[in-house]
Amino acid sequence: MLYIFKNYDELSCKAASIVSSQVILKPNSVLGLATGATPLGMYQKLKKIYEKGIVDFSNVVTFNIDEYLDLDYKNPNSYHYYMYNNFFNYINIQQENINFPPQVNGKVGDLYQEYDKRIEDKGGIDLQILGIGINGHIGFNEPNQELITCTHITKLSEDTINVNNGFFSRKDEMPNRAISLGIGSIIKAKNILLLASGKSKANIIAKIFNNKITTSNPSSFLKLHPNITTILDEDAAKFVS
Ligand code: F6R
Repeated sequence: MLYIFKNYDELSCKAASIVSSQVILKPNSVLGLATGATPLGMYQKLKKIYEKGIVDFSNVVTFNIDEYLDLDYKNPNSYHYYMYNNFFNYINIQQENINFPPQVNGKVGDLYQEYDKRIEDKGGIDLQILGIGINGHIGFNEPNQELITCTHITKLSEDTINVNNGFFSRKDEMPNRAISLGIGSIIKAKNILLLASGKSKANIIAKIFNNKITTSNPSSFLKLHPNITTILDEDAAKFVS
């Protein structure tokens, strides 16, 4: 399903209505959450829907898709900080239902796979929210010769560092590694909600619709998912025919 809206506000309304419908229909939904500029409007709208008493998050379980490695959770650029300050602090989610990738230097295959197992033990992700990088990354699965299927430590690409280090007061403060759900973990979600806004995303969004799959564009794997809803604004949809 593809929706194209005039602007970011309308995109955010639609995204929030899809997430709240999911939670109303299944109060113990497992949500996969992303951070970044794109879903901010959606979180703001969800807060308002919650304040009106329309949706109850008390039984919802969340798994964040990624987090920087070696960045204090209290740092305003950490994804922990983002989630609490933009969403969790304003809704009735239970602390024990909030999950982030483990922030320990574990080996792929043990500690990080435990995160995937935790997701499976909760019955799998019902709805995975995704943004997309200008280079096609989803979560922090960066373009590469190989992609890793499960949760892992990833080295951030030059593109990602250049885009994201603008948020840090000092450029060298930005970690160059992160922990991310793998492509396999993302694809396992029962439903995916992909959001993209603005001209900078137009090229990469067009590539998702061109029917080719390549590890140099991790988002191209979303083509394989049977249940993906894409919500774009007109700028991001510019080259979608
Ligand atoms: C963040 C994440 C990233 C972002 C992507 C787009 O949790 O998973 O993949 O979704 O970098 O970021 P924005 O929305 O800031 O353009």
